[in-house]
Amino acid sequence: MTIEAYVSPSKVAERCADLIVSAAAQAGQKRQRLSIVLAGGNTPKTLYALLASDAYRDKLEWQYIDLFWGDERCVPPDHHESNYRMVEDALLAHLAPSAMPAVYRMEGELHPTQAAEAYESLLRTYFAHQKKVAFDLVLLGMGEDGHTASLFPGTAAIFEQERFVVAHYVDKLTAYRLTLTPAILNRSKQIVFLICGANKHEALQQVWSPAFQPEKFPAQIIRPADGNLLWLVDHAAAGI
Ligand code: 6PG
Repeated sequence: MTIEAYVSPSKVAERCADLIVSAAAQAGQKRQRLSIVLAGGNTPKTLYALLASDAYRDKLEWQYIDLFWGDERCVPPDHHESNYRMVEDALLAHLAPSAMPAVYRMEGELHPTQAAEAYESLLRTYFAHQKKVAFDLVLLGMGEDGHTASLFPGTAAIFEQERFVVAHYVDKLTAYRLTLTPAILNRSKQIVFLICGANKHEALQQVWSPAFQPEKFPAQIIRPADGNLLWLVDHAAAGI
């Protein structure tokens, strides 16, 4: 586990953008596609906009990248709460049609159980053609309560070890959510948390504390078996 703290959210985004460029270049050298799981919420918008900017857009061969989502709200893809729509607006809409990534979105418009089963099937088919079930790069955020993806405190999905995707009703949101589970997240080659803002400081201290309580602070369940875990945080979240 590596922690890197940066003065501002834009510096966190820059570091992550450079990491993605480097991962894409390495995959390109090996003539391999790069699988990236995108985080939802607000924090990564800065990163996605940066990747779409003139400074970064042409540094990536998007046509060799496969995009997935770590979680999704159970809403249509054009809904203002959709994580897919957030990525579409911040990134995808700005890429050249001739150099688009493969986009594998969670179908939030379906019945939650059906959407989870469909994404599970999509992932198992995708990885059936790979040497092993392992995303190359997973981006995650963290809520003020220590949740990540849509693994919320007190939910059984935190401890799911069989299914890659679950749909569950989250009481505190009074809404269904779709989420990847530790069963697939913890098999990833590289996991990067992007956490900014003083409002995340308290939860981050709990998540980083030796007391292992993932039922209370679900981000603690993210422990890649063989992969690297990198925390990119700003000074406000780190309490510096
Ligand atoms: C979501 C995200 C969620 C998010 C955290 C942090 O769908 O909301 O996947 O896990 O990463 O809630 O959200 P912010 O970045 O908006 O603080």
